[in-house]
Amino acid sequence: MRAKMIAGNWKMNSGAAAAADFVEKLETWFADSPEGRQAASAVREGRVEIVIAPPFTSIASAHAAKKSDLINIAAQNIHHRQKGAFTGEISLPMIEEAGCRYVIIGHSERRHVFKETNEDLEKKLIAALESRVLPIFCIGELLEERESGDTKRVLASQLESAWRSLTSDVVAEMVVIAYEPVWAIGTGKTASDADAEEACDYIRTLACDKFGIAASDSLRILYGGSVKPENSGSLLSQKNIDGLLIGGASLEVESFEKIIETSL
Ligand code: PGA
Repeated sequence: MRAKMIAGNWKMNSGAAAAADFVEKLETWFADSPEGRQAASAVREGRVEIVIAPPFTSIASAHAAKKSDLINIAAQNIHHRQKGAFTGEISLPMIEEAGCRYVIIGHSERRHVFKETNEDLEKKLIAALESRVLPIFCIGELLEERESGDTKRVLASQLESAWRSLTSDVVAEMVVIAYEPVWAIGTGKTASDADAEEACDYIRTLACDKFGIAASDSLRILYGGSVKPENSGSLLSQKNIDGLLIGGASLEVESFEKIIETSL
């Protein structure tokens, strides 16, 4: 059984104090409310995994505010080199030391706003897999690509370059893929359950073709793009959707908790 991952991507929101406050409130919810206790049991039993991805400068305070191992912390980006003359960049050993278990790689804002290429993202993915920080690797098509019937071709090419040097074991145990159609991110336009499921099913088929049925059965595939408490339950009930990458609706702890509840 694939554990459901509920991951909040805070983007450039919530400084150190706000991040600590969020974590404290979420820990209190896990300890003190019936729904939170149910969620904590699901996490301890390996059915659900909770991740938050604060900005770099909030990672340490979020980590310090943890009272349990129920919350995992992710970075939103990294440089592929370990250290050196790369002004303004942050490395994998640094985010690991700060308390991260995951790193988001290739978010559509990195691809389209910061012009990161498939080649850049392959380097980051390989570097993460050589570290102890696990990758959440994002792919997704633009609106014009969807409208011209190119969705599958785009997803296949983003994945092909990323995982050409990976093995079945690595894909099964270490990689999480997030399908985020760019037109659904921050726009309020969620993909329909059927569209999201079709894309995630296609990603699993690609994984099966390349890495075999066992690896593709273990691979976790998330959906992201305007997820909120009102639509998270039906997205999570799709066969090939193993979790959610949530932007705006993960910033307020109450709405993040409601989304977690729909995963139970
Ligand atoms: P959104 O962002 O939920 O605000 O659409 C999702 C994401 O960018 O990961």
